[in-house]
Amino acid sequence: MSNTVLIIGASRGLGLGLAKQFTHDGWQVIATVRDPQRADELKSLSNVRIEALDIEDAAAVDALAQRLSGTSLDVLYINAGISGSRELSARTATHDDVSHLFMTNAVAPVRLAKRMLSLVKPQTGVITFMSSIMGSVESGPGMGMPLYGASKAALNHLTRTFVAGLEEASGLTVLSMHPGWVKTDMGGAEAPLDIETSCRGMIEQVKRAAGQGGHRFVDYQGEALPW
Ligand SMILES: NC(=O)c1ccc[n+]([C@@H]2O[C@H](COP(=O)([O-])OP(=O)(O)OC[C@H]3O[C@@H](n4cnc5c(N)ncnc54)[C@H](OP(=O)(O)O)[C@@H]3O)[C@@H](O)[C@H]2O)c1
Repeated sequence: MSNTVLIIGASRGLGLGLAKQFTHDGWQVIATVRDPQRADELKSLSNVRIEALDIEDAAAVDALAQRLSGTSLDVLYINAGISGSRELSARTATHDDVSHLFMTNAVAPVRLAKRMLSLVKPQTGVITFMSSIMGSVESGPGMGMPLYGASKAALNHLTRTFVAGLEEASGLTVLSMHPGWVKTDMGGAEAPLDIETSCRGMIEQVKRAAGQGGHRFVDYQGEALPW
């Protein structure tokens, strides 16, 4: 039987790249998009079940978990994220900017992981959160986009809390993943990496991590990153 992955946020960019690579590798893919009307590339892939989801909508997350009840996931890949405006800083951000950034990038992914946890294989399953090197408290400052970086640092922190709450006997592996700096709508045209290279690398790391347990902050090449 083939492996199954649930990818959250797969309409474009890295999420779409992950869906393409996982299907290429023979996996069953369940992929969420905010607007199924704008998912033509995803629809053209075989072995993809498309579900509508805005990660900020807790009721929709709950409904999706119910629709997927009975599904056994090898991988839950929480990719959805936003950068906000590049200039956002503690000085310029509005209340709405901060709330949107931190809800989408930090709170909603962990809330979703908690809701979907029972669907993930307890011994060999992998939950991957799409983080960023900008979320490293040691390395991120000075790289630019300080509020975005802070939202990913918050994601890493909440992820550790999530992992600390797992049962001791759990063999689940949790990864906080940096995809590299990738040419997407968010990464921009000047980014050095293409989507395919990043996604191939990330999937390699996810496959390697299965069954290892614990929580690691790594990049698409498997390099450990400083928290
Ligand atoms: N590109 C890079 O260099 C880079 C580096 C480090 C980390 N990352 C992280 O990697 C992830 C993907 O980035 P990307 O470069 O592929 O960005 P992207 O091209 O801007 O795509 C972002 C994806 O997230 C989805 N999304 C945004 N808000 C959502 C919400 N509320 N609910 C559900 N889906 C939502 C988008 O869906 P819509 O199409 O509906 O908007 C889209 O599929 C993000 O978490 C990002 O922070 C990227």
